[in-house]
Amino acid sequence: MNFENRLKEHIESIESAINGSFWGDTPAHGIIRESMMYSMNAGGKRLRPALLMEVNRLYAGNEEAAVQFALALEMIHTYSLVHDDLPCMDDDDLRRGKPTNHIVFGYDIAVLAGDGLLNLAAEIMLETVIRNNYLPNFIDAMREILKASGPSGMILGQVADIKYETESMDRETLDFINRHKTGKLIVAALTAGGMLANAPEEDVILLGKIGEDMGLMFQMVDDVLDLTGDPEKLGKRTQMDVKNDKRTYPMLIGIDGVKSQIKAYENRLIDYLDRLSVDTGFLKELVRFLALRDY
Ligand code: IPE
Ligand code: IPE
Ligand code: MG
Ligand code: MG
Ligand code: MG
Repeated sequence: MNFENRLKEHIESIESAINGSFWGDTPAHGIIRESMMYSMNAGGKRLRPALLMEVNRLYAGNEEAAVQFALALEMIHTYSLVHDDLPCMDDDDLRRGKPTNHIVFGYDIAVLAGDGLLNLAAEIMLETVIRNNYLPNFIDAMREILKASGPSGMILGQVADIKYETESMDRETLDFINRHKTGKLIVAALTAGGMLANAPEEDVILLGKIGEDMGLMFQMVDDVLDLTGDPEKLGKRTQMDVKNDKRTYPMLIGIDGVKSQIKAYENRLIDYLDRLSVDTGFLKELVRFLALRDY
């Protein structure tokens, strides 16, 4: 199967899970459900679920369980975007090509929709663990995702991003922010995919390293696109980092400097992927796509 079709297949799996029966016994109705589903269905590249499901498939894991974990991860990522867009954070009014959650539902409901997505994500993973007789590797994968998104992971990165926004910054600090705010969930997508499928430990360690580089490369492209991208294609506003006085890679090393580093990360990622014990053809194409993306 070629790259485009395989990516399409992963996206279709996650989108059918989003519209599946994951609400279970949760009697959430009305505006909170509407608001959560609005952001989940607004689109997006579905990168993190695609990574998790791809790795799980490479190591022949249970696809039904993996799609539930991928769904949970996408819910956590989506909650982080809903909150990131709030006026008290980046103050954005466009996301995934649509008005941001708080513009449509109000600040109060947007905060609660983010909370709801995080809560339900944990519930979905736990239900999957229970349905699979508490498999230890499933529990490990759940811990990996919750830790990555928590106050020593993505949340810590968001805090640092806010705290340092108006101060001068060196490369080390900028990398620290991005390794956390963006990198941790990408690492978790890859490593949790491996854990769910009981991949060899050395592969899971390597997947973690791949995720770290991929996360930094991903944020470099995000920063460049904020300056040079087309809002129509991106589905979000550009020039927001300057407006919010954020420190970004282009600011620190210039656009050409960032572009050459993106290329260096791309090459290094391909090398790392060659060292895994499975066929990483799709993941290599995905790395090229992420380095060159314009949305
Ligand atoms: C945006 O993530 C936030 C960052 C971590 C830079 P994505 O670019 O993956 O957003 P969607 O999911 O495609 O909307
Ligand atoms: C956000 O980074 C990372 C998150 C954890 C949500 P950005 O603030 O750069 O993401 P965009 O550019 O708004 O998508
Ligand atoms: Mg932000
Ligand atoms: Mg933002
Ligand atoms: Mg950005």
